[in-house]
Parts: sequence; C-alpha cells; structure tokens
Amino acid sequence: MSQFFGLVSLGVYSKPELSEMCLCHQIVVGLGTSMPDKLTARYSLIKMPQSNMNQDNFPSTPGKVKMERSNYFGRVVNRWHGSSSARLFGFSVGLFMLTAFVFLMRLNTSGEWNFGDGFVGPVQAKWGDLVWQRRVRQSCHAKRDDGLVVLVTGAAGFVGSHVSLALKARGDGLVGLDNFNNYYDPSLKRARQALLEKQGVFVIEGDINDAALLKKLFELITFTHVMHLAAQAGVRYALENPGSYVHSNIAGLVTLLEACVKADPQPAVVWASSSSVYGLNTHVPFSESDRTDQPASLYAATKKAGEEFAHTYNHIHGLSITGLRFFTVYGPWGRPDMAYFSFTRDILRGKPITIYQGANRVDLARDFTYIDDIVKGCVASLDTAEKSTGSGGKKRGKAQFRIFNLGNTAPVTVPNLVAILEKHLKLKAKKDLVKMPRNGDVPFTHANVTLARRELGYDPTTDLATGLKKFVKWYQNYYGVSGSRRTM
Ligand SMILES: NC(=O)c1ccc[n+]([C@@H]2O[C@H](COP(=O)([O-])OP(=O)(O)OC[C@H]3O[C@@H](n4cnc5c(N)ncnc54)[C@H](O)[C@@H]3O)[C@@H](O)[C@H]2O)c1
Repeated sequence: MSQFFGLVSLGVYSKPELSEMCLCHQIVVGLGTSMPDKLTARYSLIKMPQSNMNQDNFPSTPGKVKMERSNYFGRVVNRWHGSSSARLFGFSVGLFMLTAFVFLMRLNTSGEWNFGDGFVGPVQAKWGDLVWQRRVRQSCHAKRDDGLVVLVTGAAGFVGSHVSLALKARGDGLVGLDNFNNYYDPSLKRARQALLEKQGVFVIEGDINDAALLKKLFELITFTHVMHLAAQAGVRYALENPGSYVHSNIAGLVTLLEACVKADPQPAVVWASSSSVYGLNTHVPFSESDRTDQPASLYAATKKAGEEFAHTYNHIHGLSITGLRFFTVYGPWGRPDMAYFSFTRDILRGKPITIYQGANRVDLARDFTYIDDIVKGCVASLDTAEKSTGSGGKKRGKAQFRIFNLGNTAPVTVPNLVAILEKHLKLKAKKDLVKMPRNGDVPFTHANVTLARRELGYDPTTDLATGLKKFVKWYQNYYGVSGSRRTM
C-alpha cells in the first residue's frame, strides 16, 4: 500500500517513476501477456497503454521538446523548479492524487479494505461498483423454478468451468470466483472464462482470501449453495511453492467457510477434497472409512486439513458440508500440469516423455475419471445437500456432513494410458522409464464408489479410451494441431 502511494507521489516528478507507475498498474489489473488474440482484444479496453502514456507526457525525440524556442521560459522553469513554491506545488499535487486514490478506493469497495494479504488490495478496485453488482445479479438469476443459486469458486479452473456450464445449462443461477493465478497458463483460464461469459456466467476475478469481497457477495446474493473448487492443485509443485497450498487450501478455505457461517441464511457447501488424502493407505479399493492420516504430500495434507476444518464448521456452526474426493480427473479443457495433458503435448512435438515406475519397476496406476462423470457427481451432491441449520451465528440443530469418493473404479497403468494416447494421436511416444522420485506421488489409486452410488446415484460411465479420444479431439481443436508433428 505504502509502496503504491510512494509511486503515486513520486510519479508527478520524473519520467522513470511515471513509466514504473504504468507498469505497476498493468500488474495491478492482472493482465496476462499470453492471452490469445481474440481475448487480448477484449481486455485491451482496460489495459493501460504504457507506450502511449510515455508519449503523451514525454516526447520520444528530443526535437519535440523545442526548448531552444524559449530559453527564457526554460530558465524561469528551472529557477522555479528549485524554489520552495515548486516543492509546495509538487506536494499539493501529490496530496491531491493521494486523496483522489483514497476516495476512489472507498467508492469502489463500499468502504471495505483488505490489504493484509499480498493477493488482494488495489487489484480489487473494480469490484463492488454498480456495474459489477448488476453483472453479479444477472449471472445469479435462476431461469427455472426452484433453481439453485450457487457461488462457484475456482470457476475458471478445469472442474469449475465444467460444473458452472452444467449448472447454467439446466437453469440454475451462479457466479464464479477465481484469482486466475499462473500455476499453469492463465490464458487457458481466460479462454474458459470467455466460454462461461458466452453462456451468461460472470466470473469475478478475486481471491477466496478476500473476506471483504466475500462479505459483499453474500450481502448482494442469497446463495443456496457454495460449490468450492478453488485450490492450489498438483502434488509436485508443493516442493517449489508450499506457501501457495497453505494460502488457497487452508487460509482460503477458512475465509470462505467464515463467510458462509455469517451469511443468513447459510448456504450448503459442497467442496473438492482429493483421493490424495488416502496417502500411504494400502487397503484397496479406497473406501471413505479407510485411513487418511498418512498423507504422502503437502497437497494431500492440506486437503486432509480441509476435511477437518469442514467437520469443525459443521459441528460448531451447523453448516451443511459435503466433501468430494476426486480421483485423477481428465478431459477437454483439462489441466496442462497433468500427465495425460503433457504427454499429449510432448508426443505431438516428438519430445520424450518421462514415465515413472514404483519400487521393483512396478507400473504406477490411476483411477482416471472422466470430467462428465465428476460433474454429475458434483451436481448430484448439490441437489441432495440439505440446508444448513445455523443462522445469525447460532446452530439450530445437527447439520448434514458427508464425504464421497468420486472415481471410475477401474485403475489404468501409466504405460496403458500412453498406449491409448499413441493410438488416438497416431504417433509413437519416445519413453524414458525413470524410478519414481520421492515427490509426493503415490503408486496407485482405486476408488470404491459404493457410497456415492447409493446416496447420489453416481454412476461413472466413461472408460479411459473413450474419454481420451474426446480429450485429444479437444486438444487438437484448441491448439490447432492436426496430430501430425509437421504442423507443430
Ligand atoms: N483435477 C483433478 O484430478 C483433481 C483431483 C483431486 C482433487 N481435485 C480438486 O478439485 C478442485 C478443482 O481442480 P481443477 O483440476 O479444476 O484445478 P484448477 O487448478 O484447474 O482449478 C482451480 C482454480 O482455482 C483457482 N484458485 C486457486 N487458488 C485460488 C484462490 N486463492 N482464490 C481464488 N481462486 C483460486 C485457480 O486459478 C484455478 O482456476 C481443486 O480443489 C482440486 O484440488 C482435482
């Protein structure tokens, strides 16, 4: 904050500081440079034209300054610049800009401040204004009788975008929330956002740690449900950036649950845990009642912690909460950090792929679950969620608390996954077989979905070969590759 004010007040004096300020604004509005053209055009309206700013204020060629035409004027200016009136003038301009900034911030955020965390602050300057409120209301308008009204966090993510589209298609009202972080290519998130916008779903750019933003949202809309899918996903990235897992999966979850508790009426919460909570469990297939106290990765530990927080909020505040343990979700619009996605990219480029093997060269296996099956499980969870029992901060009775596995019940080894991709891509992969490093990955996953079948009517129907065919088709359309290496 003080840095920002510092830039504002310095900005009236000299050229480098001003250009820094433009840069600062570009960062603050959070615009990626890697957006596809069609999207860049769309966002260019709010992008600060840095070069134009510089041109307007500072001629690009010395000839344009024309100091020689007015040496007298130049001398007066120089003298004046060093005088106390100049300092006073500079101070007044700085003060005026500071006051204007404070005024605008208060206006836009309805007096809510939140600069306690590096992820919020001026980046939120636009939320809360009348246009924003109208967009939120329109997006949340349910088009069918008794339609749900849902806050979907992580809506620009893989699962979040699919769930949002499914809810919108059946006439529910919803608004998305996503911080568009750059864990993987944000342009993919922007493209999903554009897809959602086309269907009338507004995705707010914001962080689940921003309590003021959540408060505003809950004041504006009576959400019947929260579908919480925002998280720092991925197992290996935790070795690089453990703080991001704590930020999103622990602090963010608690901030969101606090907002739900304070809402009146409280929404029912459905959220994504993970099959990774089974960690070192060897009892197969994994059942909800199996041990989950031996996480093998920091990601798993944060998801397990999330389950404990969820239980606490259910117990103390009467929040209705359903946790879903997803098993390796894949499909169109998927996540570039996942093996099936990066294998596809590398096979098409003719680059070798690394296939990890467990102890004694045992192949790793995953219970790959197609996105449409996961979406059905999410929607069924929302539909069967009972109302929360708390209101005004008081619990009025026992509230529903559920945990379900959502998997495919048919694990496939990684070499088999690669063989299916080779068939669909009509290309041979160059494989490097490597002993699995100790990075948090587990050797296999296998879901028992008996509980979800019984309570949710969950019935996964897509086998890996069928699902990957759809993924490859999407990939080739999206990235414009025909499947032949020559076109890459
Ligand atoms: N895809 C899988 O195989 C899988 C498996 C198990 C569990 N899950 C869980 O399912 C959920 C969805 O996963 P996904 O595959 O769609 O991942 P994703 O990364 O594509 O989606 C998560 C989204 O949340 C957003 N986000 C992250 N931190 C945020 C924050 N602090 N505030 C606001 N937005 C934030 C990200 O920008 C991203 O768009 C996650 O909770 C994930 O842990 C996924």
